[in-house]
Amino acid sequence: MNFPNKENGLIPTQSQEMLINLLADPNVTTKLYDSAKRMMWSVVQYNEMKMLYSCALKEIQTKFEVLSTEFSLRNNRNPISSISTRLKSTDSILDKLERNGWPITLESMEENLADIAGIRVICPYIDDIYTIADALLRQDDVTLIRRKDYIENPKANGYRSLHLIISVPVFLSETKKNMKVEVQIRTIAMDFWASLEHQMKYKKDIPEAAAIMEELLRCAEIIHDTDVRMLRIREHIESVADAPTEEDLLLERIGRLDLSLK
Ligand code: GTP
Ligand code: MG
Repeated sequence: MNFPNKENGLIPTQSQEMLINLLADPNVTTKLYDSAKRMMWSVVQYNEMKMLYSCALKEIQTKFEVLSTEFSLRNNRNPISSISTRLKSTDSILDKLERNGWPITLESMEENLADIAGIRVICPYIDDIYTIADALLRQDDVTLIRRKDYIENPKANGYRSLHLIISVPVFLSETKKNMKVEVQIRTIAMDFWASLEHQMKYKKDIPEAAAIMEELLRCAEIIHDTDVRMLRIREHIESVADAPTEEDLLLERIGRLDLSLK
C-alpha cells in the first residue's frame, strides 16, 4: 500500500492526516517506542516463563523415567507403560485466561493456570496408578498442591484418571523457581476411552451427540469393570504362584543384567 506523501501526490484521508500529524510529534513517537519496548519485554518474559515450565516437565519426566528404569530392573513387571508431556500452547493459555475472566498477565498465568506443563503417565493396572503417584509424592522436592481422584469419583460423563497438581523446583544458573505441573495418571483402558471422548468434545455438530455420550458412559463403566477384573486376575495369579526361592530371584535378576542402561 502506498502511504500518501508529498512525493507520490496521493491525498491523505482525514484519519491518515491525523496519523501523520501525530507521528510528527516527538512526544507521541517516544511514547509509542516505549510501549513497543514494554510489549517486547513482556514477550521475552513470557518466553522465559515457558522455558521454566518446559524445564519443570523435564524434571518430572526424568523422575518417572527413573522409576520406570528401577521397576524394569528390579521387578518382572513395569507399572509404567508410557509417559508423554505437553506444554500448553499460547493460544490455549490466552483462551483459558479470557474464558475465565482472569487478567492476561504473567502473574495471573502463574497463579491461575496449573496445567501449562502437563505430563501423562499410562499404567497397565489400576493399582499401578497409586503405586506411581505415591512414589512421586514421596520425593522430597515434590510438593502436592491438589489431588483429584476421578477414579474414586468419576466425572458424570464417565471420565476416570488420577490428577495431581504438584510443584517442583527448577534450578537455573543463579536462581531456583518452583513451577506447577499437572500430572495425569491413568490405565491403558482409561486412556483409550479418554482419547475417543476428547475427539468427541472437539468435533462440532456430530449427529446424535447425546446418544453417543450415553454410549460412551456405558463404555466407561465396562472399561472400569474390565480394569477391576484384570487386576483381580493378576492378583490371583500372583497369589497362587509359588513364592520364588532366593535362587529364582537371583536368576531372574541375572536375566535382566543386559537390560539397556543408557
Ligand atoms: P480444565 O480447565 O479443562 O483444565 O479443567 P480443570 O482445571 O477443572 O481440571 P480437571 O481436572 O477437570 O481437568 C484437567 C484435564 O483433565 C483436562 O484438560 C483434560 O486433559 C482432562 N480431562 C478432564 N475431564 C475430562 C473429560 O471429561 N474427558 C477427557 N477426555 N479428558 C478430561
Ligand atoms: Mg486443562
